[in-house]
Amino acid sequence: MKLFVSEGNPHCLKVLAALEVAGLQCDVQFVNHEEKPVPFLSRPCLPALLLPNGQHLFSPNAICRYMFEVSGQECSEACDQWLEWEATELQPDLLQALHLAVLQGKESEATQVLAGPLSYLDQSLTKGTSPFLTGDVLSLADLVVCAALHPILSAPSLASGEPKSVRVWFDRVAASQSCVSASHKVLQGKGLQAMKSFMQRQPAPQSGQCRGGTQPCNNGPAEEGERVVSQEEMEAAAVTWGKGLNASTAATKRLHPILPQEGKRNILLTSALPYVNNVPHLGNIIGCVLSADVFSRYGRLRGWNVLFVCGTDEYGTATENKAREEGLTPQQICDKYHAIHASIYQWFQIDFDFFGRTTTEKQTEIAQNIFWRLHKNGFLVEDTVEQLRCEKCQRFLADRFVEGTCPHCNYPDARGDQCDKCGRLINAVELKAPHCKVCGQTPVIRSSKHLFLDLPKLEPQLEQWLDKTTSSGDWTANAKQITRSWLRDGLKPRCITRDLRWGTPVPHPDFKEKVFYVWFDAPIGYVSITANYTDKWEQWWKNPNQVELYNFMAKDNVPFHSVVFPCSLLGAQDNYTLVNHLIATEYLNYEDTKFSKSRGVGVFGDMAKDTGIPSDVWRFYLLYVRPEGQDSAFSWADMALKNNSELLNNLGNFINRAAMFVSKFFDGCVPAMELLQEDKKLLALVGWELQQYIQLMDKVKIRDALKHILSISRHGNQYIQVNEPWKKIKGGDAEWQRAGTVTGVSINVACLLSVMLLPYMPAVSRTIRDQLNAPDSCVSAMLRGTGAFTRVLDAGHRIGTVSPLFQKLEVEQIEALKKRFGGQQTPTQNAASPHSAATLPTPAMDVNAGADPEKARQLTQAVAEQGEKVRALKAQKAEKAAITAEVSKLLELKKQLTLAEGKSPEPTPVKGKKK
Ligand code: MF3
Ligand code: ZN
Repeated sequence: MKLFVSEGNPHCLKVLAALEVAGLQCDVQFVNHEEKPVPFLSRPCLPALLLPNGQHLFSPNAICRYMFEVSGQECSEACDQWLEWEATELQPDLLQALHLAVLQGKESEATQVLAGPLSYLDQSLTKGTSPFLTGDVLSLADLVVCAALHPILSAPSLASGEPKSVRVWFDRVAASQSCVSASHKVLQGKGLQAMKSFMQRQPAPQSGQCRGGTQPCNNGPAEEGERVVSQEEMEAAAVTWGKGLNASTAATKRLHPILPQEGKRNILLTSALPYVNNVPHLGNIIGCVLSADVFSRYGRLRGWNVLFVCGTDEYGTATENKAREEGLTPQQICDKYHAIHASIYQWFQIDFDFFGRTTTEKQTEIAQNIFWRLHKNGFLVEDTVEQLRCEKCQRFLADRFVEGTCPHCNYPDARGDQCDKCGRLINAVELKAPHCKVCGQTPVIRSSKHLFLDLPKLEPQLEQWLDKTTSSGDWTANAKQITRSWLRDGLKPRCITRDLRWGTPVPHPDFKEKVFYVWFDAPIGYVSITANYTDKWEQWWKNPNQVELYNFMAKDNVPFHSVVFPCSLLGAQDNYTLVNHLIATEYLNYEDTKFSKSRGVGVFGDMAKDTGIPSDVWRFYLLYVRPEGQDSAFSWADMALKNNSELLNNLGNFINRAAMFVSKFFDGCVPAMELLQEDKKLLALVGWELQQYIQLMDKVKIRDALKHILSISRHGNQYIQVNEPWKKIKGGDAEWQRAGTVTGVSINVACLLSVMLLPYMPAVSRTIRDQLNAPDSCVSAMLRGTGAFTRVLDAGHRIGTVSPLFQKLEVEQIEALKKRFGGQQTPTQNAASPHSAATLPTPAMDVNAGADPEKARQLTQAVAEQGEKVRALKAQKAEKAAITAEVSKLLELKKQLTLAEGKSPEPTPVKGKKK
């Protein structure tokens, strides 16, 4: 359980107090007011509680209630009534009072505003004889009301006029340990002033607002309720709808090579080049290639001229290490893993325009050219450096050839170039207790001459450029922040040469034996990969006025893309295109831990296809939990939940119903539509969601935008539910016509959904359009401009064959997958486990001695199918004997699976499996 709160937010007082009284184990995280911890809410909403099942609570009182209930404390009816009163009666006045007191300094007016509710409280307290609101003991009601009033009643300037009984009661409750500590945490002893920045972000309350309504007032963090649609909005939506599709926006075919075009928005899009020495895991995939793919597909729908390039990052010590482990040459490793990467991305439908690699002649040519220009322009300096050298292996231990303890944070497994724990860059000689990665020996220090990129000399230019690009482009908050902190620490010259063999050779005669450091060389890969795609690569890369460059990456890559690489290009003085938009994700965890190849934990790219779950569903879920703005986690249970609730029951259900109505009730032809108020309202709602989607996508808020697609189908389902076309179709003429309109509008919404979905789920999107027999022109036209929802499938249009889009993910299936990927694999059973037993501990080794991964794969499938069969029989209420026979087959299969997974042949009983 995780509770998100923010300092100075009065709503957080009660939840922290409740948490303490409930005595629950819960991770409390202080975030800033802008944080959006609830993934499906597009605006900040604090406090929020993340439940163990992945769901969120974000109404403060619901959070308090939940905490009490989980800790076994009942909430009485009287208590409930107080909570209701607090939310609907007290809060509106309270927020107004806080607004007056905190922001306007009008303290006496603030007290006046509260006179009403305080007198009500007084009456209740004096009526009975009990010291607390609901009886003789402190209850949640006291806690919630007291915490709400706390900022006011504990401010000396405000508390004076309140009734005596209220004061006595308040002092009693507020003195409790839970209230004292909550107030300390939230208000930090600063009183009213602590809430200033929070109050500034709240809409100014109007007096009398929300009174008499049944809904809790929305001044505070409230649920995302139904949007109110105005009459004008509905009329405008109907007009837009009536215009129909602008057929002139013809689909433009992609012709290679794609080059910048005059008068177009020319977008060069890169995804960080994945290291070739490993199989990428889901976190790597969502962090760069998948995010970049969604954005490039979206860009094409918007009519932008997009070039999307990527490739494998093949040089460096990591590749050499890997080659030694697998007994291959570095080149063989690169060839092998380049193919593995390419096939994984193909399975995930990553639509690169070109997927290249860094070990090419063009790379040498361009990197050496940039090098000479830097040299000529005086941005390289020579220096002698102390280096670690392993006498036994007869080599210098650069970067990943050496490991030791981080000099900054004492993490024991830091590498020679960077610490995985604190993220700081390390100079290998600074490592404490260094040891050779190959033989384990302690290295000695030797000196050698190297070349450095003079970052301090380039700093003024860099800063000037950064100011411009970060203010005009879309840089994610983490990218800006990481860059700022690098600059704050001051730039130092960076060594760009290494004593290695596997790299781009340094052309300078004094450094003949050396190669470029991989982080100098790799980003140049973007350029050389483009050059391998087209000879006219300079039209993209030396054309900053006509081209906008987007770089997608995970946050650990930021400094190289925002500082080091731009400095190389600036120093080259060759009119290079520099990054305009730097899009960095946070980290994706696996369940509650990290992805780990050495421990065999997590799903790696090559395994996703063996799960039987379609590529589109993987994409959907990864994008749904994209670590956008904060770390997030992949969870099997949550994936099943989202598949079943969002894809199957929400999106799929809506589209399928709409299409079924057309085919069953109207012979497969879209019926005539006559819009009533009800329909126009839907059009307005859908149009609004579409606009949100476009605004968010334009800003690369991929995860947030996805939620608006799902909102549209939710509106659609509700629209169908309310209008009941399946009943009206049986009625008289007018009713029949209503059924037609509802069906016609719905099928058009389905068509819009197929286009909005395209960047996320390309195959499903295609299937929907095939089922609707929708013209290709809708793809190129529906997402242009600011987003207008217009009719594309007119009356009379004949749709295709309709079939379900999604399949349910069953508990058994998910459980089996979870077991398979939760750290159970032996390091030798798949290509993703790069480490040989000799170099790394293999904790699961003995348990898994008899594992047969291929068989396990097949059996998982068989178990799922058999489970399906059993369920179907049960659903049909088949004969008992028949069911029993199939169940025993299922059990046998499960047993075999356990064996194939290398676990004990005496299967341990599965806990809690009834049903
Ligand atoms: N290979 C690096 C990683 O996976 C990314 C390199 S991005 C590049 O973290 F631009 F330098 F190529
Ligand atoms: Zn050694």
